[in-house]
Amino acid sequence: MNTGHDAPKRSVSAPGRVKEISSTANPIVKDIRALVQKKHRDETGLFLAEGLKLVIDALDAGWEIETLVVARAAQDSALLHKTASRTVALGADLIEANHKVLEAITRRDNPQNAVGVFRKKTVPLERLAPKPNEVLVALDRVRDPGNLGTVLRTADAVGAKGVVLVGETVDPFSLEAVRATMGSIFAVPVSRVGEAAFIEWRAGCRAPLIGTHMSGATDYRKPDYASKGSVLVMGNEQAGLTDALANACDTLVRIPQVGRADSLNLAVATGVMLFEARRGILEL
Ligand code: SAM
Ligand code: CO
Repeated sequence: MNTGHDAPKRSVSAPGRVKEISSTANPIVKDIRALVQKKHRDETGLFLAEGLKLVIDALDAGWEIETLVVARAAQDSALLHKTASRTVALGADLIEANHKVLEAITRRDNPQNAVGVFRKKTVPLERLAPKPNEVLVALDRVRDPGNLGTVLRTADAVGAKGVVLVGETVDPFSLEAVRATMGSIFAVPVSRVGEAAFIEWRAGCRAPLIGTHMSGATDYRKPDYASKGSVLVMGNEQAGLTDALANACDTLVRIPQVGRADSLNLAVATGVMLFEARRGILEL
């Protein structure tokens, strides 16, 4: 491709630049590689999405792409080529890289043929207040990127309104979390908020807060999740809900268990809760 080598970066109508890079020592590669670290994602506001499917999902959902790295060896893929042209037309840069460079960026032996650098996006909590028939998930200090990614994927699948990350949580834009969402990171609105702000927001929220707790007195199939909508509040993997969050809930429910396991995995428990909350709404 020969579009606009001299075009200024990200001006409104100018196409992006196209570069060929074969060295992992290239400073552009180093910058992109650094995005596996949270510190650099925070500094730049950028994150990585691996794989052509994810990149297309993101573009279709209107996420802002900064740079697209494609495998030079895969350039005869029509879809890859189309996505590359689309990226350049949007004003983002295109990097045609060799296998070694893609391996270095993704820290993987079998890297995908495309890696997109996107601008992070979260939404204010105010925008996620559930209306009747809507459900919102709140995660208290979630620690594991796989759990967070799985919750986002499941929230997407049931049509949840969004996911609120309360307190100190893992980064939803880490490679691991993004991988685990299978693209749902681009479909489900995510909000981040401190515990005190969440509890304050809760006072003006019409939907009940339904907390999940190992000592909850109510069977999780009992509450009315739909009439006023609902907020499902899920506890930290190790510690469960903080007392402050548990006290802020209207109801504390428990999923009955038999057998040896003390508790369910957080993402599994969230899945069970989400499908219960959406029972009357989802149909084949
Ligand atoms: N040791 C923690 C405790 O005692 O709370 C276990 C936390 S569990 C791994 C993570 C979260 O999943 C819990 O805080 C709760 O939100 C949810 N959870 C797991 N099993 C559950 C169950 N049987 N009933 C209700 N919530 C459950
Ligand atoms: Co060229």
